[in-house]
Amino acid sequence: MKSQKVGIGLLGMGTVGGGVASLLQINEESIQEKAGAELQLKKILVRDSAKSRRVELPAALFTSEATDILENPEIDLIVELMGGVEPAREYLEKALKSGKYVVTANKDLMARYGTDLLELARQSGGAIFFEGSVGGGIPLVRPLKHCLAANRIDRIMGIINGTTNYILSRMSLEGIEFQDALLEAQEKGFAEADSSNDLEGWDAAYKLVVLSRLAFGCSAGMEDVYVRGINNVTAQDLMHAEKLGYTIKLLAVGERVDGFISLRVFPALLPLKHPLASVYNEFNALFVEGNAVGEVMFYGKGAGAMPTASAVVSDIIDASRCLSYKIEDGLMEVPLKDIPVISGEKMVSSFYLRLQAEDRPGVFASLANAFGDEDVSLDMILQDRSEKGIAEIVLVTHDVREANYFRALQNIKEMPSIRQINGVFRVFGKNKESL
Ligand code: NAP
Ligand code: HSE
Repeated sequence: MKSQKVGIGLLGMGTVGGGVASLLQINEESIQEKAGAELQLKKILVRDSAKSRRVELPAALFTSEATDILENPEIDLIVELMGGVEPAREYLEKALKSGKYVVTANKDLMARYGTDLLELARQSGGAIFFEGSVGGGIPLVRPLKHCLAANRIDRIMGIINGTTNYILSRMSLEGIEFQDALLEAQEKGFAEADSSNDLEGWDAAYKLVVLSRLAFGCSAGMEDVYVRGINNVTAQDLMHAEKLGYTIKLLAVGERVDGFISLRVFPALLPLKHPLASVYNEFNALFVEGNAVGEVMFYGKGAGAMPTASAVVSDIIDASRCLSYKIEDGLMEVPLKDIPVISGEKMVSSFYLRLQAEDRPGVFASLANAFGDEDVSLDMILQDRSEKGIAEIVLVTHDVREANYFRALQNIKEMPSIRQINGVFRVFGKNKESL
């Protein structure tokens, strides 16, 4: 029996909380050895303490009163796995003020209030660990903070939402409908309590904010991120993309551009030979480009009970070591800089457009002219045989100024011969030698 004891209070016992409780049981001996302490689960906060849980735990551990944990002198470490901003923020603030250590997997909270909570932890002698908040089981926080610290990071880019990647994979590989694939992702525990966070790109944007602070040392917030989700991606778009040699993925891209920072989340066509094209289901992958190391790729399960528990329990071990050996958390913090965010209009991209147009002479010419007038040059064109006088046309541009593209698109929308604009997506990695 270890002489040191660390009392743990869990806030939340859903998908991730269940994974954490079961991992603490499965690997109990080695976890305690590595923590250098006996880890004692003292209390678990849930909304409904009568609900049946996947992991067998004594009923007396459950409470629906936060004060049973926050004001419990036997609890040294709070593990927050509730999700959402409030009341999680309020609880963690109280915990840190009373000198407790905190572990969280909450990216919403870390993106919005992470800077304040880290500062509070510093002032009150506590610490906050958040490896599970980005990339599920993939180590990203420590590698960015420590292992790559010698580099100037110029770009981070990848797939950082498991739910949307699962949906797009199931749609493109198995022909499953969007809604059915979403249901599967929810059943497997990948999706957020409010799945619009995943589908609309917000979850990836929260993670991009957390990662960009670590990678670029910038003080960017959610208001600085351009966010588009996958709601408009259809089976037809996936089919056309494949005909052109592409697949569609929800990408998160943070990069330095001429002294500015660009932070964007968007669905994009990606060449089938690109390494990210074969990242399927709940797997995530992140490329990091450093000026010394070059390109580094991180890959693994980005969502799910046990992969996320792997990150959370590792944080619990680190926090427990700090508590039991009275050592600093060692998580290097550097002051964040205000790096201006570049206006999207200045960015250069290639675009895919799918539309329905009247199939009659001159329509194609007017489309080409609308693009030509804005200096937008076309790279690939597909047209299916028309039905009832309406043709479906897919156009892919070369790299163009985004402002020019959107002006041309506005003019096209206003043409009487254009019946519907179905899909507008960026095309990523078409002309790039590197990733
Ligand atoms: P979840 O399954 O919805 O579980 C949430 C848990 O928190 C439930 O046990 C719920 O109690 C409890 N809870 C929520 N609000 C509460 C409140 N106001 N008062 C008391 N208890 C409350 O969520 P999850 O998927 O485990 O996610 C937890 C956190 O981990 C989120 O921040 C999420 O973004 C993050 N995360 C999730 C994954 C993943 O793959 N799921 C991966 C990485 C990070 P009841 O059970 O009684 O309802
Ligand atoms: N809902 C998130 C996802 C969970 O699908 O990636 C992991 O953060």
